[in-house]
Amino acid sequence: MGGKKVTISLIKADVGSVAGHYSVHPEQIEVAKACLERARNEGLIEDFCVFNCGDDLELLMTHRRGENDPKIHGLAWDTFKEVTEKVSKKLKLYAAGQDLLSDTFSGNVKGMGPGVAEMEIEERPSEPFIAFAADKTEPGAFNLPLFRIFADPSYTAGLVIEEVMHSGFTFRVLDILENKYVDLVCPAEIYDLVALIGTTGRYVIERIFRNSDGLLAASVSTSRLSLIAGKYVGKDDPCMLVRCQRGLPALGEVLLPFSFPHLVAGWMRGSHYGPLMPVGLEDARCTAFDGPPRIVALGFNLSDGRLVGLGGSKPADLFADVAFDRARWIANEITEYIRRHGEFMPARLGPEEMEYTTLPQVLRKLAPRFKEAHKP
Ligand code: F6R
Ligand code: MG
Ligand code: MG
Repeated sequence: MGGKKVTISLIKADVGSVAGHYSVHPEQIEVAKACLERARNEGLIEDFCVFNCGDDLELLMTHRRGENDPKIHGLAWDTFKEVTEKVSKKLKLYAAGQDLLSDTFSGNVKGMGPGVAEMEIEERPSEPFIAFAADKTEPGAFNLPLFRIFADPSYTAGLVIEEVMHSGFTFRVLDILENKYVDLVCPAEIYDLVALIGTTGRYVIERIFRNSDGLLAASVSTSRLSLIAGKYVGKDDPCMLVRCQRGLPALGEVLLPFSFPHLVAGWMRGSHYGPLMPVGLEDARCTAFDGPPRIVALGFNLSDGRLVGLGGSKPADLFADVAFDRARWIANEITEYIRRHGEFMPARLGPEEMEYTTLPQVLRKLAPRFKEAHKP
């Protein structure tokens, strides 16, 4: 099958969790694995890996059917449904089926709740890539690290000293409010890029291409449950796929920006900023103030569509490493610092971005008591 195009699909949903919005249950993972095993035996998919980041169940699949394929999206949907019916509801897990916003599947899970990062690619002679998944945050959380990985020479040495990467990368930026995108060619348009993606709640990096040949290097899930449903019904915890090495950022260049636990939106009731803590799978569960927000990174190689990790279905758990201990320590320090602000901005999000708010009710109640202030 080598040489033929292969598609990597990473599709995630929160379909219920243990002890609050804390962690996926092992039985949910087992049922999801059984569904995907069946699909592999039937030849629909080539391979899969099921994992979780906090309360989000992540289905990583490889197949030959291209992006946005109704059968692959249908498989993910059915899997989330089966996990909800067989485990989440049976065990009365918290918020069972939370991200499944519709009763019937209509061909594509985008817009129905689950998050999707996909890439159809020509498999290179060796194809290393990383699947990232984060909990208690939003897709814009990847803007800063992706900028550093693919445009900032202080982080990615290859942009300066590797021939293929020297001509830079093009960033596809999605305006999630207007549902429009723009392609910005870097380094030439680097200032325009930063002008947009600094507004992480609106302008989100969706794809990154290599300038020298248009090769697709990264793909991010960009759905926002709040906007899909017209009101906020769940988190839009993001995932993404990043290819690396040989004319792309090296594994270590992709990982390095995550050693800075930058502030991201989405913590506690989707209404607070918190530091993004890089963790191994073992620590991918949210506790303090439902966080702090976490991110895992799983490394694989593709081999004719098969996922190669560290033996069996074991992926390389890239943040489970002492090199990230300091980042975790700093994230804990930031947690302590920012939480001392209580419900005051900038620890709390601006009113327009909060998932939970009582402000309209408070304003309504106080309306009769507001008096004209002196003219300035
Ligand atoms: C969920 C999340 C949590 C919840 C919080 C309140 O992913 O971020 O912080 O928003 O635990 O949840 P409910 O309203 O379900 O009690
Ligand atoms: Mg949840
Ligand atoms: Mg979540």
